[in-house]
Amino acid sequence: MSHEDEQLLALALEVAREGGALVERMRREGVSVADTKSSQVDIVTAADRACEDLVRARVLAARPDDGVVGEEGDDVRGSSGVRWVVDPIDGTVNYLYGLPHWAVSVAAARGDEVVAGVVLAPALGVTYTAVRGGGAFRDGSPLQVREPVEVAQSLVATGFSYSPEVRARQGRAVARLLARVRDVRRMGSCALDLCGVAEGSLDGYVEEGPHWWDHAAGALVAQEAGAVVEVTRGPALDLVRAAPRGAWDQFAALVEECGFLEAST
Ligand code: IPD
Ligand code: CA
Ligand code: CA
Repeated sequence: MSHEDEQLLALALEVAREGGALVERMRREGVSVADTKSSQVDIVTAADRACEDLVRARVLAARPDDGVVGEEGDDVRGSSGVRWVVDPIDGTVNYLYGLPHWAVSVAAARGDEVVAGVVLAPALGVTYTAVRGGGAFRDGSPLQVREPVEVAQSLVATGFSYSPEVRARQGRAVARLLARVRDVRRMGSCALDLCGVAEGSLDGYVEEGPHWWDHAAGALVAQEAGAVVEVTRGPALDLVRAAPRGAWDQFAALVEECGFLEAST
């Protein structure tokens, strides 16, 4: 864990807190859909845009040579080698409906390797942080994944794309998974699902289609808490899988048997 990575985490935390406070304030004033994106259920609110603008501005004011990639804006190339990966609200549909499961996700990467990450969930009142090689924390307390269990006893989170065609495939794979595990959860935030694996409130997470901004910070939190997180690149979509290290082989094989990998490759 380098001193610079700790500084990146401190900045990530500062901007995520500011972004989270802004999004909370905007929620109290009333949330409405500002636009739709890939499909009519893929929404963006004014708060998504305002939060990303704030995070980008704060980060680049502090570190003008860095790059930034975020869900709601352009890919800004920097010259320092550090890239910020931002999802201003992960769980926008929950945010729209007044459900608490949403988070501001801010990560810093060197090249493709995430080195610091923050997942801040204002409505849940929790903040997850991690620096590569420095462990993972929830509100400052160290995190550890759950003891590995047989897959048949595992509680697994998943998520669905905004595309109806992709959803139909995902539904078939999830139906197979459901018959093989303790139960399945769909909570609506990839970042928080990964933090759930980190803190032991889930035994695994699998989803076809998340983007880098969805999983960058949460994956580091999970890895630093003792999980394996694998992103399998497909021609169109990536498959993201996470499970405690000791349960990884069984979990990865199960997901493959259920047809998740077929869907993304
Ligand atoms: C979504 C959430 C959801 C996942 C979707 C993501 P958004 O992000 O993480 O849990 O299933 O794949 O797109 O749109 O709320 O930022
Ligand atoms: Ca997201
Ligand atoms: Ca988002």
